[in-house]
Amino acid sequence: MSYETLIVETPSAGVALIRLNRPEALNALNSQLLGELSKALDAAEADETVRCLVLTGSDRAFAAGADIKEMSDKSYAQMFSADFFGAAARRIEQCRKPIIAAVAGYALGGGCELAMLCDFIIAAETAKFGQPEINLGVMPGIGGTQRLPRAVGKAKAMDMVLTARMMDAAEAERAGLVSRVVPADKMLEEALAAAAKIASQSPLAVAMNKELVNAAFETTLSTGVTMERRLFHSLFAFEDQKEGMAAFVEKRKPEFKGR
Ligand code: HXC
Repeated sequence: MSYETLIVETPSAGVALIRLNRPEALNALNSQLLGELSKALDAAEADETVRCLVLTGSDRAFAAGADIKEMSDKSYAQMFSADFFGAAARRIEQCRKPIIAAVAGYALGGGCELAMLCDFIIAAETAKFGQPEINLGVMPGIGGTQRLPRAVGKAKAMDMVLTARMMDAAEAERAGLVSRVVPADKMLEEALAAAAKIASQSPLAVAMNKELVNAAFETTLSTGVTMERRLFHSLFAFEDQKEGMAAFVEKRKPEFKGR
């Protein structure tokens, strides 16, 4: 499938790389881009050969937010009827395959929210995160007020959404928003290597691990721990568990088949 606002590649077996590609607008998220991203995720989800995704932008910007020019004249009725960006946000949130956000440059507003909708963020030293919507008289609209405090705590989240200040990559790592910071020229390589590692694991175990870490944000501790134990036990029904443990005992690399 070809897209106007995305470039989709397969850099290595099992890995799909999706690049946001609206350089003229610093990858601002408009309806076309998010529609295409939803389609690209549908395709990746349906493709058994894809085991992990990497979502990235350019050196200058992951994404500088929702497209202000597209939104500026909309009425409340239009925003509400279109459930503005709700469907796309849900599509990303509900992807069963892991998505790594590889962020260089600006990840602002909807761009920061898009990165947080992914499973984890690998940042270049040049990355800058922010929720500057308050400067426009609005607020985050695809999860920023909810995911940012869960990632960095109330104090920093409040500071960011109320003052619109940006966090650099080092602060974002200290605060827990990103999992690693790497030099800009190594960032994509590092993200693709992480994706290749995930792609080599049992896709069944990967999907269940992802589901359970996400459940930690939705359930009580005792419910989450019980869910974990049930799924842990259930993994023993798969050949991949037998293969993984046999390979360890036999001192060889496992070959996971996804069954
Ligand atoms: C539309 C945008 C844009 C955006 C940048 N551009 N951000 N267009 N929507 N969010 C465009 C500019 O208009 C400009 O186009 C080109 O990209 C380059 O941007 P410059 O401003 O010239 O670059 P620079 O001076 O380097 O400044 C970079 C920047 C700044 C700091 C990132 O562009 C900026 O502040 N952008 C807006 C950030 C923001 O407020 N994001 C939140 C949006 S609201 P031209 O044609 O002039 O060259 C949001 C709500 C989410 O995200 C809710 C989801 C439903």
